[in-house]
Amino acid sequence: MPPTINDLEMLARQAGEILRAGRGQALHVQHKGVIDLVTEVDHRSERFLIDGIRARYPEDEIVTEETGNLSGRSCCRWYIDPLDGTVNYAHGIPFYCVSIAYEEEKIVQLGVVYDPVHDELFSAERGEGAYVNGARLHVGSADLLDQSLLATGFPYDVRSNPENNLGHYARFALRSLGVRRLGSAALDLCYVAAGRFDGYWETGVQPWDVAAAGLIASEAGAVVTKITGAANYLALPCSILAANQAVHSQMLALLQQRPPVAGRLR
Ligand code: IPD
Ligand code: CA
Ligand code: CA
Repeated sequence: MPPTINDLEMLARQAGEILRAGRGQALHVQHKGVIDLVTEVDHRSERFLIDGIRARYPEDEIVTEETGNLSGRSCCRWYIDPLDGTVNYAHGIPFYCVSIAYEEEKIVQLGVVYDPVHDELFSAERGEGAYVNGARLHVGSADLLDQSLLATGFPYDVRSNPENNLGHYARFALRSLGVRRLGSAALDLCYVAAGRFDGYWETGVQPWDVAAAGLIASEAGAVVTKITGAANYLALPCSILAANQAVHSQMLALLQQRPPVAGRLR
């Protein structure tokens, strides 16, 4: 029997308890890269999720952030981010979550994102709409980019990657109501689903960051694509653009202007 949305919700809530329990403790923080952190809580939450999935679905593939790809039958794939927003978590900033998606034949069917700080459980089943704590979600109704509140993020190789998003950021900052950088890609997308943000884009994300929340945003009525407008936003290299139809097309037009050089507007 394939998993149900309740199965994912239960796993996400329990992993959220692990994040809650670790909050405020002296954390052992390691560097995966110059500005890319991981804590023992990331590992604890990931171990719990892998064990929970493996116990009931031992043949499925699991794409994880910290442990890598756990092979299995490729028809049935999970994407897990045990703690999305690690830098926030390690600094005591209350904005992070657990993200779990389940995909069949390369189409994400179920997505759950749990924010243990605000006790908000975002979830979606393909074709059945998106919900937060049981209440139906709908994207915002903004129709002008100028009046849209946006969110974005920057890749961990921001210091060396010419495609570091700073040029796009500067353009959007001048053309929108404002651009927030809250530090959790999954929650940024869920906030688009909830109409809290009118749009979100990011380059250099990974499938585990956006698989669950991408479904949640699209089930709430967002158009979700790569920043090029291509539909297959989980294909590597992964990037994401999510907004209602009107704002999406205005954001896409801006993203398609001549690529800005790192940190400099042309
Ligand atoms: C990161 C966060 C951040 C985004 C990065 C992600 P992590 O995930 O979602 O907002 O800008 O691209 O890698 O490392 O906290 O799981
Ligand atoms: Ca992440
Ligand atoms: Ca993570």
